[in-house]
Amino acid sequence: MDDAACEVRLRNGDAVWIRPIRDTDAAELQRAFALMSEASQYRRFMTGTPRLTDSQAAYFTAVDHVDHEAYVAHSPDDETWIIGVARFIRYPSAPDDAELAVTVADSWHGRGLGTALLRVLTARAIAVGVKRFRAEMMADNEAVLSLLRSAGMTDETVSGDVASGHIVLAPPS
Ligand SMILES: CC(C)(COP(=O)(O)OP(=O)(O)OC[C@H]1O[C@@H](n2cnc3c(N)ncnc32)[C@H](O)[C@@H]1OP(=O)(O)O)[C@@H](O)C(=O)NCCC(=O)NCCS
Repeated sequence: MDDAACEVRLRNGDAVWIRPIRDTDAAELQRAFALMSEASQYRRFMTGTPRLTDSQAAYFTAVDHVDHEAYVAHSPDDETWIIGVARFIRYPSAPDDAELAVTVADSWHGRGLGTALLRVLTARAIAVGVKRFRAEMMADNEAVLSLLRSAGMTDETVSGDVASGHIVLAPPS
């Protein structure tokens, strides 16, 4: 088990493991993305993206853990089977801010996994000096809107089909 992995409990008491992504996760990330419903794939990238290309998968897994960080979740039974990802990518021109994205495998929706991933990612972001998450999502994506509102999203705006907002990250008091 990865030293940085942590066990978290979902709403029903089930345990999952969350750990930083590794460059060896690329093929598994592609597999997990291909298994998502078309609706979830669309909501993640807000474009029709039926598969992650090799170069996208390499980019999403070769993170530096400071400007680009991602955590994956897996069930305790299989460390290679990715069931969720939360990621931030710092804006080079505004390094206090980072773009946020969270994705959970369809069969795991609604159990608290997105919330757990966001909590772990937030702690890491604060540790490396990110001060705000910015997020963009389809305006009808109630699941992520609920998730981000619970995490303190403010300044919500809607432009056409796309909503955006930000979360101010507070260091632990
Ligand atoms: C958005 C997503 C990550 C949420 O993951 P999840 O594990 O289902 O989320 P949770 O179970 O932790 O629930 C988070 C909140 O959303 C709410 N929620 C979950 N599914 C919902 C749904 N279908 N409709 C409305 N609210 C929903 C929960 O009640 C919870 O609300 P609370 O914080 O007020 O208790 C998941 O739906 C997903 O992967 N969607 C496809 C990809 C995507 O849209 N990514 C966002 C792009 S930034």
